[in-house]
Amino acid sequence: MLKELLNKDEFSKDDIISLLEINDRNEVQSIYQKADEIRKKYCGNEVYLRGIIEFSNYCEQDCIYCGLRRSNLSLDRYRMSKNEIIETAKSIFRLGIQTIVLQSGEDYLYTGEIIADIISSIKSTINVAITLSLGERNYEDYALWKDVGADRYLLKHETANAKLYSVYHFNQSLKDRVDHLLYLKSIGYQIGSGNIIGLPQQTIKDIAEDIILCKGLDLDMASFSPFIASPETPYRSQKNADINFTLKVMAIARIVLKNVHIPATTAISSLDKYGREKGLQVGANVIMPNFTPNPYRDKYSIYPNKNSDNDNPLYFPNSITNLIAATGRKIGIGYGNSLKIPRKSI
Ligand code: 5AD
Repeated sequence: MLKELLNKDEFSKDDIISLLEINDRNEVQSIYQKADEIRKKYCGNEVYLRGIIEFSNYCEQDCIYCGLRRSNLSLDRYRMSKNEIIETAKSIFRLGIQTIVLQSGEDYLYTGEIIADIISSIKSTINVAITLSLGERNYEDYALWKDVGADRYLLKHETANAKLYSVYHFNQSLKDRVDHLLYLKSIGYQIGSGNIIGLPQQTIKDIAEDIILCKGLDLDMASFSPFIASPETPYRSQKNADINFTLKVMAIARIVLKNVHIPATTAISSLDKYGREKGLQVGANVIMPNFTPNPYRDKYSIYPNKNSDNDNPLYFPNSITNLIAATGRKIGIGYGNSLKIPRKSI
């Protein structure tokens, strides 16, 4: 029965729910094995690294679960200068990493033009792909940034349940979020999205919808990361996501989505010391080490315990290289572009 289900090519919502409901140890192992097989077939043994620079922790939004929410008045806010951002990007490139992720809260003090200037400066200095992760911005800005060389945009849908989306996010809608993703894709960005697992009120059915939405959006990167209760938020006393459930969701997502990049997220390594290793074994093929420099590093506190030593630039690249080698894999060389390029429609 399970074997038949795992060998399907297309999965209905009920199929995904059935898989998510499996708790028998041996059956869960079969799901992991299948995910690992599919990862190997579609992504090979390479693990691609994306170096993250969190350049501002100011945020206009008030997402109920996030430590950067604007109502968190106790957070010491910072903004990095253009020069600091470029120097950090260069130090990432010197380690052989060829994707730079520019991430921030929704901070409009960095105007479209300022971001464009940072993108073109990086692009003219080092040979890297650039991923932007700046929240929901103007469509004109997305187009401008694409014109000056941005390659990818990461905008998580967080939850595919429109009602819950409105519970977690003030003045934001799931429809807008999906529209932004579709627009980004239509103008040539490789797009990344994904959910948070284990949010209050979320059900298994909602998680199945998350995976189906990722499929429908034909994402280039899909991230499934565990909820971690953040102290300065209304969800401070809620339960963290379960590590095993998180791994099961990642594995099922790999089985359903196939040729998509899936990261072993920073959040999973915050939840479990060996979270990244475990993630790599159940379908993940990407790691996104954090290179935000001091004194800013600890201030990008979306949730607690976010910066593991693995990401400490002082220990890198040994820690990450060892971690990847320990799982029998190797570091991917090059940009690590979408597994869907050339696109069918081009
Ligand atoms: N737990 C897990 N992930 C979180 N994010 C924000 N807060 C949390 C939390 N408490 C994630 C969201 C958001 C990204 C910036 O961080 O997915 O898109």
